Amino acid sequence: MNIVVVGASGGIGTALVRQLEQSGHRLFTISRKNPPSDARCDITDPSAVRSTFERIVGDGFAPECIIIASGVFEDDLVPTYDRALLDKNFAVNFFGALNVIDAILPYFLSVGKGHIIVLSSIAAWRPNKRGVGYPASKAALSLAMRGFDLAFRPKGIAFSVVHIGPTNTTMWEGGASFLVASKEKVARCIATLVSSRKATLYAPFFSTMLARATLLIPDRLYMALRKILLG
Ligand SMILES: NC(=O)c1ccc[n+]([C@@H]2O[C@H](COP(=O)([O-])OP(=O)(O)OC[C@H]3O[C@@H](n4cnc5c(N)ncnc54)[C@H](OP(=O)(O)O)[C@@H]3O)[C@@H](O)[C@H]2O)c1
Repeated sequence: MNIVVVGASGGIGTALVRQLEQSGHRLFTISRKNPPSDARCDITDPSAVRSTFERIVGDGFAPECIIIASGVFEDDLVPTYDRALLDKNFAVNFFGALNVIDAILPYFLSVGKGHIIVLSSIAAWRPNKRGVGYPASKAALSLAMRGFDLAFRPKGIAFSVVHIGPTNTTMWEGGASFLVASKEKVARCIATLVSSRKATLYAPFFSTMLARATLLIPDRLYMALRKILLG
């Protein structure tokens, strides 16, 4: 399958590219760093995203699946509330992902098939003391994907959202814990979506299941538990 990975220079993105290549897929990679990615593109710039995808399709790489693994976690509450940083979380995590979807959806509709996978977070389910922009942008992304999936799956285009638990990359700023997964493990879970095309995936299963099980307890109690388990 021809797969484009956006955010391929990051921890999970790099592990995912390796995993998918080993399974025999053809990859095209995008991030702001080139190399290691095949194309350099800042996804907050809609015209740059559009021209990057025009070039990919024009050069004969017919994408069948797009994985949006890009993301930022900017602390917009510490040391103090910072609206510009909140906006940055949304510019990359939400509007950046929409820029990618806008750029590829007309092509997928023209060929009558396609698959878009986004990496969301269990942070979308709970407030966070470090920032409001990251959880809010991921919550918006997760909900938007469900809406896209409702509208476009009957037309052959599937939208999948992956709810990811703590993973050992540079983005993770918590401590070491048995609940923090390796990026390779998370990449293996995400790679299964390419053939299953499920609308929702929890990766890895155990930490995300635990996070779901605690959704009934109040935020302050959850934060205290989280401090003990994740540092
Ligand atoms: N690590 C975790 O614990 C965790 C948990 C839940 C969800 N997630 C989600 O999983 C995804 C991958 O996270 P990660 O831990 O692998 O993060 P990471 O190592 O920081 O990688 C982030 C990736 O996003 C790319 N990126 C950032 N801003 C961009 C922009 N404006 N345009 C294009 N690319 C951009 C970066 O590439 P360049 O800098 O080269 O542009 C990099 O490839 C993110 O969406 C993250 O929110 C991570």
